[in-house]
Amino acid sequence: MAYDLIVIGTGPGGYVCAIRAAQLGLKTAVVEKNPTFGGTCLNIGCIPSKALLHASELFEEAGHSFAKMGIGVPAPKLDLKAMLGFKDQAVDGNVKGVEFLLKKNKIDSFFGAGRILAPGKVEVKGNDGKTQTLETKSIVIATGSDVAKLRGIDIDEKRIVSSTGALTLPEVPKHMLVIGAGVIGLELGSVWRRLGAKITVVEFLDGVLPGMDGEVRRQAQRLFEKQGMTFKLSSKVTAVDTSGKTLKATVEPAKGGAAETIEADVVLVSTGRVPYTEGLGLKEAGVKLDERGRIITDHYFATNVPGIWAIGDVIAGPMLAHKAEDEGVAVAEILVGQAGHVNYDVIPAVVYTMPEIASVGKGEEELKAAGIAYNAGKFPFTANGRAKANQQTDGFVKILADAKSDRVLGVHIVGSDAGNMIAEAAIAMEMGAAAEDIARTCHAHPTLPEAVKEAALAVAKRAIHM
Ligand code: FAD
Ligand code: NAI
Repeated sequence: MAYDLIVIGTGPGGYVCAIRAAQLGLKTAVVEKNPTFGGTCLNIGCIPSKALLHASELFEEAGHSFAKMGIGVPAPKLDLKAMLGFKDQAVDGNVKGVEFLLKKNKIDSFFGAGRILAPGKVEVKGNDGKTQTLETKSIVIATGSDVAKLRGIDIDEKRIVSSTGALTLPEVPKHMLVIGAGVIGLELGSVWRRLGAKITVVEFLDGVLPGMDGEVRRQAQRLFEKQGMTFKLSSKVTAVDTSGKTLKATVEPAKGGAAETIEADVVLVSTGRVPYTEGLGLKEAGVKLDERGRIITDHYFATNVPGIWAIGDVIAGPMLAHKAEDEGVAVAEILVGQAGHVNYDVIPAVVYTMPEIASVGKGEEELKAAGIAYNAGKFPFTANGRAKANQQTDGFVKILADAKSDRVLGVHIVGSDAGNMIAEAAIAMEMGAAAEDIARTCHAHPTLPEAVKEAALAVAKRAIHM
């Protein structure tokens, strides 16, 4: 049977694309080489990491914050097996949810590795070795990304782990050496620190979370240090000796120089992810990749080969689940002649540590580099009533607005629940709001988002509570 659309990969990009296409009346099928739907995000990414972040945060609170709120409980005991089970349940529930949605939308599913034989022809090789060829008008590639490997450091997912192994460690390491102070290093480093590990983070650059606003990066680093993480910045790990009982990592200054040895039980390699296109037959099909191995697409997600489209981590842009989802919706709409579109200026990013770190739009350094004049309004959570009541006063909200038009260009939040608060900023930016629009919107009291309103007032130097 010929399909209108075959989507290869069922991560947040692929399954969302398939559902939107089915809603729009396209006869749709998905091909997935994993035994479960949901891709990196649901199986080994967003969902399991957030389950562990949630559980470990409560574990830490039970140990350190309950007493001061008058809750007397014995020192919490860690049952790691049960905590990992809690995480597995979260994965299972979400994965089954996708299965239900695909069925509900009458989308056919094929389990096996997809390979493009030609435009309109996808071969699926099942785990039993049997192959079948499916015919379709359009193909969307949504095969996602994989862990970036470090030369000379072999990931065994037991002692030298990627994020995948770090989600299933059977014991809390005494000392975990994290390579890379990006999102994964800080989130999973936080999980294992809260459960009792000593954490040392080696970062190539001179600060954590490259790409984010400079003030946010500096504040985040200070807070993580206060929590007990150690950072070795401007440094790189060049080798890990696995011969002994403990691992011995060779750490050198990034620019080269005298090396030192750091011993650890577990090394987490979190130095980024790379697009995944293995076995797809792209070379034979003539689909072009860029110098970083990403599938090249135009503004409408079309590759250079007619009938073949691509979305999500496998193309350029931030490797984020919601970016992949929005691209999935957009390409499905484009396929039926609608005006699907993604606004890359308004893609929020959240680091789910405690406090959370969230941003949307441009940071100060980016605005300066682009020569855009802006006004900054900042409000600290130490001056927010709800944050004070909760005794969670770390962090601030910063709003950057165009100096002439007052249009919001970027919002940056360090603070408890920053990930939820950034949604308000994203909507404001999507609708072209000025800082004054946020400032004049009534915000419920006492809530943390009042700090967003105050930061907007601060753009015009008229914050009330500061
Ligand atoms: P993927 O989710 O990678 O899915 C691709 C799918 O394609 C996979 O199921 C794969 O098996 C399948 N596939 C590949 N090749 C073939 C083939 N030839 N045939 C058939 N199937 C194939 N992002 C966030 O926004 N928020 C978070 O909190 C977050 N946390 C993360 C935590 C971790 C530890 C990691 C690793 C990532 C996290 N991410 C997070 C990033 C997020 O997971 C990705 O951006 C997202 O999954 C990309 O979606 P995708 O659909 O492009 O690809
Ligand atoms: P990342 O790109 O966020 O961070 C990698 C870090 O490693 C950078 O700080 C980089 O400078 C550093 N680095 C690179 N090479 C190095 C080396 N040789 N030695 C020392 N440091 C080195 O990548 P990460 O954390 O692996 O995450 C991958 C992707 O997954 C991210 O791009 C992110 O988009 C996504 N993700 C998103 C999450 C979220 O939205 N909350 C959570 C986890 C992952």
